Amino acid sequence: MQQHGGGDASQRIARISAHLNPNKSQMEGSPSLERSTCRAKGGSPGFKVAILGAAGGIGQPLSMLMKMNPLVSVLHLYDVRGFLGPQQLENALTGMDLVIIPAGVPRKPGMTRDDLFNINAGIVKTLCEGIAKCCPKAIVNVISNPVNSTVPIAAEVFKKAGTYDPRRLLGVTMLDVVRANTFVAEILGHDPREVDVPVVGGHAGVTILPLLSQIKPPCSFTSEEIAHLTSRIQNGGTEVVEAKAGAGSATLSMAYAAVKFADACLRGLRGDADDHIFLQVTELPFFASKVRLGRNGVEEIYPLGPVNEFERAGLEKAKKELAASIEKGISFANK
Ligand SMILES: NC(=O)c1ccc[n+]([C@@H]2O[C@H](COP(=O)([O-])OP(=O)(O)OC[C@H]3O[C@@H](n4cnc5c(N)ncnc54)[C@H](O)[C@@H]3O)[C@@H](O)[C@H]2O)c1
Repeated sequence: MQQHGGGDASQRIARISAHLNPNKSQMEGSPSLERSTCRAKGGSPGFKVAILGAAGGIGQPLSMLMKMNPLVSVLHLYDVRGFLGPQQLENALTGMDLVIIPAGVPRKPGMTRDDLFNINAGIVKTLCEGIAKCCPKAIVNVISNPVNSTVPIAAEVFKKAGTYDPRRLLGVTMLDVVRANTFVAEILGHDPREVDVPVVGGHAGVTILPLLSQIKPPCSFTSEEIAHLTSRIQNGGTEVVEAKAGAGSATLSMAYAAVKFADACLRGLRGDADDHIFLQVTELPFFASKVRLGRNGVEEIYPLGPVNEFERAGLEKAKKELAASIEKGISFANK
């Protein structure tokens, strides 16, 4: 067994106790939770991540996958049941670099994402008030639906608190990209990881706009195939809700998409990302676009690129519905 100097050993013990009892060490402002002393797997400095809604269908697999992420050194799991409870929100959030929010109720058959508004809007608002107070510089990944409205709600909360930085607030529309890549790859007979389908706009029905004319590697579809694929990508979530017949919406695929997105955010924070991911900004105050993530969150927003007639018509429909959802979120936050 190797011998370590006293200082080294007590630092390591502080690190272990920080994992076993994060609240205590957070409250005391322990230097053991400084990023430079928290080691991610492999020995490099790691990031501190909080998942709000960690006990849920998405939260559980998401927590497991984030725990396995070598860039993460401290993982705080917060929920209303079993775990920390509302009085512990501040402890869960203090000092975090990244906060992921899958908290809230999922859809049941026959419901739209907007039908979740009444419950989830309030949940996201409260959690974001905690973020503004405890970790105003954290990157925030909003998964809770309706994303088209919960992201504007988060923005309003941060504006009121004077902490809003549009580069750091990201709605997670990644599952639409994952689905689009999968469905297109099935038709082409490719590996989905080798297919890149841009999906822009928002995260509900017609606001989900796949740009099938810009698929990489380049390919061409008949207009029938395009209509079918577009509709399948737009309604992929509803397909899952119906198949689960009341037991919720997509969970494992969402956890996979959320981890892909969170990992890109963390690699950006570390300063080595050149990934192009999707979030909510541009054109309208919020609009999912292809972006480059870096140390401050979004560092560059890419233009939509050339769109064809079919996509232009889809874009008009998407913008109209998205504008209404954004307005609904803003008015709720300012009530
Ligand atoms: N962005 C997307 O692509 C996408 C995809 C699928 C689902 N979703 C959304 O993600 C959300 C979660 O879905 P799920 O299947 O995990 O639901 P779920 O009901 O299984 O889990 C939600 C969890 O949130 C917790 N929660 C509720 N209120 C909370 C609060 N105030 N603070 C902390 N935790 C709270 C619950 O206790 C529960 O553990 C839903 O709103 C769903 O619509 C988004």
